[in-house]
Amino acid sequence: MTTFTQIPDGEAPSIDVSLKRIVSDINPMMYGGFLEHMGRCIYGGVYDPDNKHSAIDENGFRTDVIDAFKELQIPVIRYPGGNFVATYHWEDGVGPRGQRPRRWDPAWKAEESNEFGTDEFMKFCEVVGTEPYLALNMGTGTLDEALNWLEYCNSDRNTYYANLRRKNGREKPYNVKYWALGNETWGPWQVEEDTKENYAKRAKQWAKALKLADPRIELILCGKNGHDDWDRYVLQECVDLVDMHSIHLYTYSHDFKENVTAPLSAERAIQITASLSELALINNPTGGWRSNDYSPPASPPKICFDEWNVYDDQQAPGDQGGEQAYNLSDALGVAVWLNVFIRQSKHIAMANIAQSVNVLGPLSTRKDGGPGLIRQTLWWPLLLFSKYMRGKTLNVHLRASTYNGSTFPSWIRKTTPTPWLDVSCAYDEVSGFVNLAVVNIDDTQDITVDLGLQETLPAGLTTDKQQEVQVFTVGGGEIDVKTTNFDGVERVGVVESTWIAGPKYTFPKHSLTLLRWSVKA
Ligand code: AHR
Repeated sequence: MTTFTQIPDGEAPSIDVSLKRIVSDINPMMYGGFLEHMGRCIYGGVYDPDNKHSAIDENGFRTDVIDAFKELQIPVIRYPGGNFVATYHWEDGVGPRGQRPRRWDPAWKAEESNEFGTDEFMKFCEVVGTEPYLALNMGTGTLDEALNWLEYCNSDRNTYYANLRRKNGREKPYNVKYWALGNETWGPWQVEEDTKENYAKRAKQWAKALKLADPRIELILCGKNGHDDWDRYVLQECVDLVDMHSIHLYTYSHDFKENVTAPLSAERAIQITASLSELALINNPTGGWRSNDYSPPASPPKICFDEWNVYDDQQAPGDQGGEQAYNLSDALGVAVWLNVFIRQSKHIAMANIAQSVNVLGPLSTRKDGGPGLIRQTLWWPLLLFSKYMRGKTLNVHLRASTYNGSTFPSWIRKTTPTPWLDVSCAYDEVSGFVNLAVVNIDDTQDITVDLGLQETLPAGLTTDKQQEVQVFTVGGGEIDVKTTNFDGVERVGVVESTWIAGPKYTFPKHSLTLLRWSVKA
C-alpha cells in the first residue's frame, strides 16, 4: 500500500517508510508461473526429449529451464491453459506415449501430440519443487470428465481413475490443491463462450460436485478483468463455493509512459474486485449449499491474478507462438505490475505471470534448440522481486508530482494519479531486511528524493554510524527504453552497488531501483 500526496512540479519529492506501518502479508504464491500448450512453451520450452544440443534430463526436461525456474522460486504453476484448455481432454495425455492421440487445437491452430500430459506436468512440478494448479475444461469438457481428472490426481481409493493413475506408474495421489473452473469462458475467442448467467449456474454445480469429491481442494472461479459485470455476477452467485476469484489482464503500449503506467489499471481492477467479492459475501450472509465436509469461506474470496503480463499481441500473435522481444520499457512495466501486487498484497492469494517460458516469456530457449537460455528484460525485475520482495507489505508515503499525459487505457487518467515514481516496500522479518522498490517512470530525467528511512534503521543508529544499503538497478542512464536482450546479448540486466544511507537518493531516469537494508544493528 502506498499513500500519496501530489506536489507541484519542481518541489522535492519524498518517500517515507516506517516499520510501524506493516500493512499485510505478501503471499509467496504471488510469484506463480504458467505453462500452456501453446507455441514453444511446453514443447521446446520445458520438454524437449530429442534435443541433442542442450542438457536434457531422464524425463525429457531441459535442465537449464528447471534451474531457471528454481532460481525464480516459482511456487505454483498453472497448466494446461489458457485458451488451450477449452477443448483439452486430459485422458488424451496419459498412458503409454505411443498410444496417445494427436489432436487439433483450435485455440492456437496447432497439432497437439499429447506427449506431455498430466503425469509429465506433475513430474516437472516435483523436479522444480513447485505446486501444480490445474485448469478444468469448461468449454467442450463435461463435469464427469473434470471429476475423473480430480479422481486421477487426488484419490487413494480403489476406483477406476485412481487405479488408472497407478497403472500409469504413480501409486500415491498427487493431491493437487488448486483447480480453476474454466478459463476466460466469457471470451468471444473461446470454444463454448458462455454467458455470465449460464457460467455461474454451471460453476456452482461443478464446484459443489468437485468439493463433494475432494473437500480439500481450492477452487478458482473464472472472473474477467475485475471491473466487469461478469465479475460482480459470478461472484454473487458462487461466493460460498469458491476460494479465489481469477482475473486476467495484459497491458501494453508502444509509448513508454503509457506502457509503464498501464499496470495501474490492474491496481484499480484489484481494488474493485476486492469490493465485489466483499459485496457478494455481504449479500449472501448465510451462504447457499452446505456439506458436513466443506465449510464455505469465512472471508471474501481473494484474487487469483492467474494471467498477467506486458503483451503486444500485434508483435507476437498467439497463433504464431506469442514470442515477444521484450525491451526495457516492458521490463519497467513488469516492475510496476509487481509493485502493484506488493501494494495490494492483502487482496492477492495467487498471481501467475503468463507465461513462464518462450510464450510471452521472461525466459526464452533458442529456436535451434541450442544450449543457454535468453534472459529477456522481464526476467530481471521478476528475479529481484521474487528474491527480495517477500514477507510483509510496508506502507510507504510518497510525495511526488505526476505525469499528466495520456494513459492506456484512458480511464486510468480519470481514476487514479500517476506519480513519476512508482513505489512499493516489503519487510522480510525472516532476514530482517527492508526492500524498497522504486520505478522512475520518467524517461527524460533522474529524480532526487528525500528519503525518510529513519524508522526502519537499526535502533540506536546515529548520524555518525554508517548504514550500508544494497542497490540493484535495472535500466537507467544511457540504456534506451527500446533495448532488448532477445538476440541473446544481455544488454539489460541488474547492476549491483552499495550506498551509504543518506537523506537523499537519486533514482535514474527509466529505471527500477531496489534498495535493501538491514533493520538489525
Ligand atoms: O496467455 C495467452 C492467452 O491469453 C491464454 O491462453 C488466454 O487465457 C489469454 O487470453
